[in-house]
Amino acid sequence: MQFINMTTHRVLVTGASGLLGRAILKEFKASSSWEALGLAFSRARADLKKVDLTDRKAVNDVVNEFKPDVIIHSAAERSVDVIEKDPEGTKRINLDATQFLCEAADAINAWVLFISTDYVFDGKNPPYKVTDEPNPLNLYGKGKVEGEKLTLKVNSGYGVLRVPVLYGEIEKLSESAVTVLFSKVKDTSTKSLIDAKQQRFPTLVDDIAYVIRELSEKKLQDPEIKGIFHWSNNEVYTKYDMAVTMAKAFGISTEHIAPDMSSSSTANRPDNSQLDCSRIENLGINKRTKFSEAIVDVLKPYL
Ligand SMILES: NC(=O)c1ccc[n+]([C@@H]2O[C@H](COP(=O)([O-])OP(=O)(O)OC[C@H]3O[C@@H](n4cnc5c(N)ncnc54)[C@H](OP(=O)(O)O)[C@@H]3O)[C@@H](O)[C@H]2O)c1
Repeated sequence: MQFINMTTHRVLVTGASGLLGRAILKEFKASSSWEALGLAFSRARADLKKVDLTDRKAVNDVVNEFKPDVIIHSAAERSVDVIEKDPEGTKRINLDATQFLCEAADAINAWVLFISTDYVFDGKNPPYKVTDEPNPLNLYGKGKVEGEKLTLKVNSGYGVLRVPVLYGEIEKLSESAVTVLFSKVKDTSTKSLIDAKQQRFPTLVDDIAYVIRELSEKKLQDPEIKGIFHWSNNEVYTKYDMAVTMAKAFGISTEHIAPDMSSSSTANRPDNSQLDCSRIENLGINKRTKFSEAIVDVLKPYL
């Protein structure tokens, strides 16, 4: 007689209307081992539940009703410049909401994975191991370090996943710091200077989503899956390199774009915060899609 393992687990994905959250929800929904519920706020659609995560009661209600085994906490304000202008509003979503979610999860023994950033590092001494001390240069990075600490303080068995600049299926070019460059690439009549100093590791959201599902499945078997993890692509690109790669992929001239070595911005950003991903690699989890290939599919609808 053949036995089929019918065990499914429940996963709650916050920020499921966002760039990364959409990919995470899709990844879990594609697996028969998971029942997934995605949360959103201003962009809640039919398949997403509208919950304001800054409202403690609303958070408690959804966690207690859905009773997830795993919560992937992807919701956040992540615009460095918005955060510098509105630190109070940012604290409500990036810290208070994280506290509410972790406490509600802890009460029902659900595991939380908090999504963090490579901007917790100053970028002076890469690559960064999970054990390296953060030293953020901007309010976004500082808030994420606090979010990591409070997550692990509520329950030291919880996880933190730091990721670098992301790209993937977008709702508009400006949704990702990577795809926004394509507007300049396409506008061949306007000369543009594009940053060629800061080194980045643009990573496809589908790769991160795969790693998150695999890590969650391992956590259900192994309590030692806890603490800080890193995942990132390993191809280094400046924004200027990304723009040239996009132009070449679509046969667009690069005569109107030039490398900018000055790196001026309203908030400090690390020059190179490459993440050492060996902790996840050593678990046998690995997915890295080539930038030059994935970016073509992502940008095709915006030609
Ligand atoms: N994008 C990157 O390059 C990058 C790089 C490193 C780390 N990260 C981290 O990765 C995670 C996901 O980023 P992302 O790029 O997917 O962000 P995103 O596209 O800006 O999405 C943010 C999400 O947060 C939700 N949200 C905001 N305020 C909310 C509230 N009060 N209640 C409930 N939900 C709320 C938004 O919902 P609505 O839109 O429906 O309101 C949206 O789903 C974040 O933690 C971010 O810090 C991102």
